[in-house]
Amino acid sequence: MPKQESNLLERVKELKAERNAVILAHNYQIDEVQDAADYVGDSFGLSRVAAETDADVIVFCGVHFMAEGASILAPDKIVLLPEILAGCPMADMVTADALRERKKQHPDAAVVTYVNSSAAVKAESDICVTSSNAVNVVNSLDAEEILFVPDMNLGNFVAERTDKRMILWEGYCVTHHRVRAADVTAARNAHPDAVVVVHPECRPEVVKAANYAFSTSGILSFARETEHKKMIIGTEMGLIYRLRQENPDKQFFLLHQGLVCPNMKYTNLEKVVTALETMQPQITVSDDVREPARRALMRMLAVQ
Ligand code: 13P
Ligand code: SF4
Repeated sequence: MPKQESNLLERVKELKAERNAVILAHNYQIDEVQDAADYVGDSFGLSRVAAETDADVIVFCGVHFMAEGASILAPDKIVLLPEILAGCPMADMVTADALRERKKQHPDAAVVTYVNSSAAVKAESDICVTSSNAVNVVNSLDAEEILFVPDMNLGNFVAERTDKRMILWEGYCVTHHRVRAADVTAARNAHPDAVVVVHPECRPEVVKAANYAFSTSGILSFARETEHKKMIIGTEMGLIYRLRQENPDKQFFLLHQGLVCPNMKYTNLEKVVTALETMQPQITVSDDVREPARRALMRMLAVQ
């Protein structure tokens, strides 16, 4: 490890103890941030940790909606997002106002919202989902009609696995949406003995062309448990670091070189240190939004 990185890591440890802080990092974070984190995980796993932690401070190394989610679930904690500009273009594809308008057109539909959304949008929703529980959550609902927000690709993935009538918002993850079915064919040609595992944020034709589709934690479990030795991975490249660390005897190939989320790469150790030193930027959610948003998140957590 380079000297500067090990110094920063030492400083993070000191500050963590001083502040009684916990560091959560999403699976797409850069290597050094994953190494410094107490928990590395998917959106669902990290929201559970945020809800249950004894720490006074949560440093959320991810994007804005994740830090907001932590603040909703742990309102008495200080939540820091080391890089305030780390947002999610998909979450920005729906606003609370636009959702309120759409709800008027579908008064009987249950509003099911992917956690990749703002607190204000969650507050307009009946229940939240992550990519690891979306099918279970939708199938657990009494409603026959579902307004699914904002990821049309994850919505399509659920639609293939439920009898409910799905109305899909037209949002998508700019990173996963880049991949086309032809890229799966090309990757298979390059690595004929590998299986293709993708994230359900990919286009439906990519999910169909793949062998499996899972959330990031699902991909990690699959890689650990499978007999396959070679895997083509169709999700953000940050996951490859952990896959290689956990499975040194297996080989992983990124499905498409465009599988990089710039927002997930803004955070580094220096910014984590600055955040802990200055206790900024803090993410808060106003009470009027927090209560309904919390209800939608808690309903999700109760499903499994
Ligand atoms: P998961 O880690 O829940 O699979 O989420 C993927 C994602 O795109 C987060 O921004
Ligand atoms: Fe948003 Fe996609 Fe980046 Fe996740 S990978 S933060 S969904 S743009």
